[in-house]
Amino acid sequence: MTSATAPVPVDEVDLYAESAILEPYGHYRRLRDLGPVVYLKRHGVYALPRYEETRAALTDDDTFRNAGGVSLNDHYNNLILGSTFASDGDEHARLRAITGGRLTPRALRPMRGRVEATADAVVEALVEQGSFDAVGDLARAMVLAVVPDFLGIPDDGREHLIDWAAANFNCHGPLNDRARASLPLSSAMAAYAERLVEERSARPDGVAHCVLDALDRGEVGRDQAVSLMIDYLVPSLDTTVTGLTAAIDLFARHPDQWDLIRQDPALIPGAFREVLRLETPVRAFGRRVARDTEIGRACLPAGSQVLVMFASANRDERAWDRPEEFDVCRESLGHLGFGYGAHGCAGQGLARLETHAVLAALARRVARFEVRGSRRTVNNVMRAFDSLPTRAVPAG
Ligand code: HEM
Repeated sequence: MTSATAPVPVDEVDLYAESAILEPYGHYRRLRDLGPVVYLKRHGVYALPRYEETRAALTDDDTFRNAGGVSLNDHYNNLILGSTFASDGDEHARLRAITGGRLTPRALRPMRGRVEATADAVVEALVEQGSFDAVGDLARAMVLAVVPDFLGIPDDGREHLIDWAAANFNCHGPLNDRARASLPLSSAMAAYAERLVEERSARPDGVAHCVLDALDRGEVGRDQAVSLMIDYLVPSLDTTVTGLTAAIDLFARHPDQWDLIRQDPALIPGAFREVLRLETPVRAFGRRVARDTEIGRACLPAGSQVLVMFASANRDERAWDRPEEFDVCRESLGHLGFGYGAHGCAGQGLARLETHAVLAALARRVARFEVRGSRRTVNNVMRAFDSLPTRAVPAG
C-alpha cells in the first residue's frame, strides 16, 4: 500500500501489456479520471496521467530525478547511470553542454538547405512511384540520410541503428519479456558505442566527436564517453521516424487538415506540434522521487518511482479543448511530446528541421494520402508503426 496523506487511487492495468500498448488511450482517460496521481499496482509506480502535474514534475527536477528512475526496471537504470539522460542537476547540465552546442538553432541553420534538398529528393522519388511504405521508404530513408552524418558516426553499423534504438526503448519498460528479449540488441549498441570511443572512428564535425574531444580534455572518462554516445544513438532516429509516420497516418485520416497545410505551408510547424500532441511518440518515462513530496494531497515517499505520462498529459481534457481532435490550427505550443524542463529533448531542433522539410516537400506534390493495412509496433515506450502502406495521390 501507499503511505499517502489522502488515499491514492489504485489501478490494476498493465500499461505494458500488448493490448494496452496498441490501445492506450482508454486506459489513459480512466487514469486521468481517477485523479492526479494513481498508483499502478502492477508496476509499483505512481502514475501522473494529467497535464498539470506531469508538467510540474518535469519542471521540478530537484525532486523528480532521472538517475536511477527513468526506466521501470533497476537493471536498465543501473546500465545507463552516467549518461546525460540518467543524470541530474549540475552533472546533467555539464554533460548536456558537451554536445549541446551542435544542436542549437544557430548550429543547425547551415544544415537547412541540405536537409530540405534531401527531403525533396526522397519525396519526389516516392510520389513518382505512387505507393510506398511511409515507415521504411519515407521516414526511415529520410532520417537515415540525415542523422548518422549529423552524429558523425562511421558507415559501418548504420544498418542496425533503428533496431538498436527500438530495443533500447523496450528496455526502458518494466523487465517484461519484451524488455528481456531486447537486452542482447541493447548490448550490441553498447558494444558499437564502445568501439566508437576505442577506435576514435567518429568524423570530425559531428556530435560524436564532441564526446571524443571531452574525453581528450579529461572532462569525461572512457565509460562516460560511451554513455554519452548511447545518449544520442538511442533517441535520434526512431523518435523522428515515429513522429513523421504518425503525421502521414493522421493526414491520411484527415484530408481536410492536409488541404489546410497545402493551402498554407506556414501551418507546418504548428501541425507537427499537433501530431506530437495527439500521437505522442514517447509515451512515458519514469522519475525517482528524491524527497517526500505532495501532489494533489497525496504524499509520494522519497525513493518511490513516478511515471511521467507525456502521451496521456497531451490528451488531458483539463488542459486541452477537444483533446481527441486533430486540428492543425490549434495552439499546441505547450505539448509535452518533446518532454519539458531540464531533460526536454536535446534534439528537437533537428527533429523539427527534418520533419518540417518532409512535410513541406509532400505539400508541394501530394493532394492526399491513402493508407491501407498499417501495422503497429509493440514497444514498451514508443507508439510507432512497423509499416504504413501509403498511396500518395499527386497534386494536379
Ligand atoms: C520527433 C522526434 C523526437 C521526439 C518525439 C523526442 C522526444 C523526447 C522526449 C519526450 C525526451 C524527454 C525525456 C524525459 O524528459 O524523460 C527526449 C529527450 C532527449 N532527446 Fe529527443 N525526441 C526526438 C528527437 C530527438 C533527436 C533527433 C535527438 C538527437 C539528435 C534527440 C535527443 C534527445 C536527448 C539526448 C534527450 C535527453 C535529454 C536530457 O536528458 O537532457 N531526440 N526526447
